[in-house]
Amino acid sequence: DRLPDDLFTAIAELKQKMNAVILAHYYQDPDLQDVADYIGDSLGLSQQAANTDAEVIVFLGVHFMAETAKILNPQKQVLLPDLDAGCSLADSCPPAEFAAFKAKHPDHLVISYINCSAAIKAMSDIICTSSNAVSIVNQIPADQPIIFAPDRNLGRYVAEQTGRDLVLWQGTCMVHEIFSERKLIALKQKHPQAEIVAHPECEPAVLRHADHIGSTTALLKYVQNSDRQEFIVVTEEGILHQMRKAAPDKVLIPAPPDNDCPCNQCPHMRLNTLEKLYLAMKNRQPEITLDESVRVAALQPIQKMLEMSR
Ligand code: 13P
Ligand code: SF4
Repeated sequence: DRLPDDLFTAIAELKQKMNAVILAHYYQDPDLQDVADYIGDSLGLSQQAANTDAEVIVFLGVHFMAETAKILNPQKQVLLPDLDAGCSLADSCPPAEFAAFKAKHPDHLVISYINCSAAIKAMSDIICTSSNAVSIVNQIPADQPIIFAPDRNLGRYVAEQTGRDLVLWQGTCMVHEIFSERKLIALKQKHPQAEIVAHPECEPAVLRHADHIGSTTALLKYVQNSDRQEFIVVTEEGILHQMRKAAPDKVLIPAPPDNDCPCNQCPHMRLNTLEKLYLAMKNRQPEITLDESVRVAALQPIQKMLEMSR
């Protein structure tokens, strides 16, 4: 396929012709964020997917996010520019092993972070995201034991915030687990006025230095509204694009990972490109497909989350 010279215009034309909506996560490449109709965190993206009138949903994010949109919209076509855009956290929770884990705790309610496969959602009672996890756990009666999967760091944070004793699946996000506490402390010494804002998928050794912990949307709002001028941002660096737009006068410093990698990009998120987006829209594929029985089972805990987040 020969690509058009102006991909931005070509994508806008296709979008109109197809009656499509483009939903993007903050960790996408800035060019992709700029062509989206809506940019958000996982909760905002699922709420948008649940309410759209468009005939086609083009998802700029990773597989579990597009899959959630498809679970909510079985009649609509859901396109993901690169089907290999996975998630280390979702991969850390294989369905057969999780079924065995769940069987060991038969009295427990299963609350799963949205970063998991449809098969795990189908085994869950309620889905949550980083923006509503604390509130959802707080809505569960105190004597009800809970399994929290798959992110152990978000799980530990929620346990601390709610005072609940959660049984945790030991999954992690490859981007958030490699932030370095040592390098973060050194950076804070260089920028003593900076506030540290961090995503709850980070390890506890990093989170204990944070002035504010929250979902991507929560971190963006915090940076925008805080009186402070400087921020050390401990999450995937894609969020800086919207932070810079929302707070152009503020100094934003990405936190350093504990390896030689110069950046904090999620390799899965970054598989989507403007070229692949154009081709996905033009060819109407790759498309998300799902087994109907899994979809129906996965829909219930997602709907519960949406009801409990109003
Ligand atoms: P939120 O945008 O919901 O905070 O999720 C972060 C994340 O890691 C998505 O993969
Ligand atoms: Fe998964 Fe982490 Fe990438 Fe989010 S940033 S998609 S949790 S690997």
